[in-house]
Amino acid sequence: MSDYGPVQIRCPVLSVRRVDAYYAITVVAPQIAERFRAGQFVAVAVGGEASAMLLRRPFAVHDVKPDYGGTVEFLFSVRGPGTSWLSERRSRDLLDVVGPVGRPFPLPRDPVNCALVGGGSGGAPLFPLAHALRRRGCRVDFVLGGASADRVFSAITARRVAETATFTTDDGSFGVRGPVTAPLGRVIEESRSDVVYACGPMPMLRETGAVASRHGIPLQVAVEETMACGTGLCMSCVVPVVGEDGVTRMVRACIDGPVFRGERVRFDDVGTIPFDALGAPGWKARPEPGDGMADRAAG
Ligand SMILES: Cc1cc2nc3c(=O)[nH]c(=O)nc-3n(C[C@H](O)[C@H](O)[C@H](O)COP(=O)(O)OP(=O)(O)OC[C@H]3O[C@@H](n4cnc5c(N)ncnc54)[C@H](O)[C@@H]3O)c2cc1C
Ligand code: FES
Repeated sequence: MSDYGPVQIRCPVLSVRRVDAYYAITVVAPQIAERFRAGQFVAVAVGGEASAMLLRRPFAVHDVKPDYGGTVEFLFSVRGPGTSWLSERRSRDLLDVVGPVGRPFPLPRDPVNCALVGGGSGGAPLFPLAHALRRRGCRVDFVLGGASADRVFSAITARRVAETATFTTDDGSFGVRGPVTAPLGRVIEESRSDVVYACGPMPMLRETGAVASRHGIPLQVAVEETMACGTGLCMSCVVPVVGEDGVTRMVRACIDGPVFRGERVRFDDVGTIPFDALGAPGWKARPEPGDGMADRAAG
């Protein structure tokens, strides 16, 4: 294994805090902290050694710090048994964590203007990204949304780190009422964004892609597709992505992602295997005019 591949470690919990609607767990994990790059996640075992919850739960890394040799923080809301169990952890408990997993966000070579868009807990991976971009001299503008004020992620930090921070809520309890994508076009224009980075639910990423495309700028997305093994074996997390050769492949969000070029993800086909995906029942290597397949692809 490379020095920069994921490691599995049992890490002591340093702290568990409430942050609005979320819990923040910080673990002491120097080997993960030193390998980590923005966009990667950790896969956490839940329920204890005798638990029937066999599958690890994935969480984006929200922060790494040099404290105690290297700490790693992730934030989550309670959704089911795994996150409920995690919310009951206390400092000095041990957590079995694999990380950092997945491909990170690519960083621009030059100091460009970057709009960072996060829906709910999808804001998490954008904070280490914002720090990395700032270190490269990039301008950062945040657009963060949530169902209600307590679900908008780290608003105070966003204001501190970014040139501008725009907030939206579905219920209008904080910032602009409506989806996070509603003010994005204006933010792109006012901040002269060169690139958009986004994380959140698939419908939000699809709409973010439409806005970025209308403004003619590239998009990098981190998907939160449901995962089982988290190691590339089970194929439960596959997403249809168009390769440089124009061929759609079902790629694994856990190890081929979670970061993809937004314009390459076939958002409308997520959850299905498109007929023209490599290996799908209707797939042919080179569709020829007149064989029906080229007509379907065109139409
Ligand atoms: C790469 C990645 C990064 C993630 N980062 C974060 C994060 O930073 N903070 C956070 O709160 N959550 C994050 N999630 C989602 C988190 O992993 C799930 O909420 C968690 O696994 C639920 O476990 P559970 O046992 O509590 O609930 P389960 O019983 O497993 O599920 C409870 C409910 O949540 C739904 N659910 C489970 N996983 C997802 C998912 N990925 N997307 C949408 N719905 C889901 C289930 O369908 C079910 O309805 C991330 C997911 C991925 C794939
Ligand atoms: S979660 Fe098993 S292959 Fe991705």
